[in-house]
Amino acid sequence: MKVLVVGGGGREHALCWAIAGSPLVTALYCAPGNAGISQEAECVQIAAEDIDGLIRFVQDNQIDFVVIGPEAPLVAGLSDKLAEINVKSFGPSANAAVMEGSKGFMKDFCARHDIPTANYGRFTNSKLAKEFIAENGVPIVVKADGLAAGKGVIIAETIEQANAAVDDMLEGDAFGAAGAELVIEEFLGGEEASFFVLCDGEIALPLASAQDHKRVGDSDTGPNTGGMGAYSPAPIITPSMTEKIMEHIIQPTILGMKLEGKPYKGVLYAGLMIENDQPKLLEYNVRFGDPECQVLMMRLMSDLLPALIASSDGVLKDFDLRWYEETALTVVMAANGYPGSYVKGSIIRGLDDTNNHRGLKIFHAGTSIDENGETVATGGRVLAVTSLGKNAADAQTNAYKGINVIDWPEGFCRHDIGWRAVEREKSR
Ligand code: AMP
Ligand code: GLY
Repeated sequence: MKVLVVGGGGREHALCWAIAGSPLVTALYCAPGNAGISQEAECVQIAAEDIDGLIRFVQDNQIDFVVIGPEAPLVAGLSDKLAEINVKSFGPSANAAVMEGSKGFMKDFCARHDIPTANYGRFTNSKLAKEFIAENGVPIVVKADGLAAGKGVIIAETIEQANAAVDDMLEGDAFGAAGAELVIEEFLGGEEASFFVLCDGEIALPLASAQDHKRVGDSDTGPNTGGMGAYSPAPIITPSMTEKIMEHIIQPTILGMKLEGKPYKGVLYAGLMIENDQPKLLEYNVRFGDPECQVLMMRLMSDLLPALIASSDGVLKDFDLRWYEETALTVVMAANGYPGSYVKGSIIRGLDDTNNHRGLKIFHAGTSIDENGETVATGGRVLAVTSLGKNAADAQTNAYKGINVIDWPEGFCRHDIGWRAVEREKSR
């Protein structure tokens, strides 16, 4: 079977790595891919958002199955366009991808189906938005309705900050069309975790849990990023918590989407806040997390591809996936300056030396090969150094051993990825 993976980040490298090992694959392509992905798949220079270009490639090369990594092509309807030309794909249709594409839709959906989430209001008018803020007080969370590449959420500590966020989004052009409507919601305290399920329109198969570190600095300080590291499983997601999440959040979602004529297929990523043993939904994403996907794929024992095809075919029932019990942990290396402006093109050395380390895999997020054959950094987040260990402490030690052999003066990483899980282990 000829498979195309769409995307070029660390998530897609992990997906390509998992899929490349499947005996079902006869050829694997990735658009646009990156330097690391080119070790697992043939990279083709088509952007993940270039829907027409992707469709043409699929037709010209008789691709049998397309795995769509990022949210933008899903929200833009790539899986629907593929279905029109009778090509199967992994990922929701555009009308189901609205779960991530519109935060207002997701909040109203939760209200209709009694899914626990933060209290909220939807606004297009700044006067009404500010009245809502004044009534509810701070801290309060202001969110752009549409896709904003992970940057459309402001946690305001003062009324002034909240009002300024409203002005930036509604009156200014901080997020373009994505910010033309806002969700303003109650601030939830607790511990954050991510939960992933595979869906086929009818049922949801739990995959695994993970926790990521969103802030750029050690001790979870500094600005938010796409994620500076992650680990799986998340110790807070115990078997009884999994049952609660499935019963109160995931099952009503799958049923509700079906009833509303938007059957959900693909991976559903629930961002959760857990307090007093009760999970609440912060957000849904319609794709794997990045870097959460890297740790999930590191723990997956079964062949991924048949599960993705079963999701697309609507036959996940009775499907089972096996996982390593160990902890996987990934540390992101980013270009100096990230998440602000950063320089592209610096050379990364020592990557081959990491091959000598067992249980270690370097996923590339933003790299290419220059004319001299050197690996160069081309993105903000550049590498995800991923390891498996018998527990979080062990996985953490292994990952940082990998970091130490990479020679890249223009890059940095956090030094405490997994601290919460490691502390929990110590206190046991
Ligand atoms: P989102 O894109 O909705 O996940 O928001 C990004 C991050 O903001 C989340 O991962 C949380 O850390 C934080 N966040 C979002 N909504 C809330 C909320 N209602 N209460 C507390 N933190 C939140
Ligand atoms: N790591 C967070 C995300 O992928 O949205």
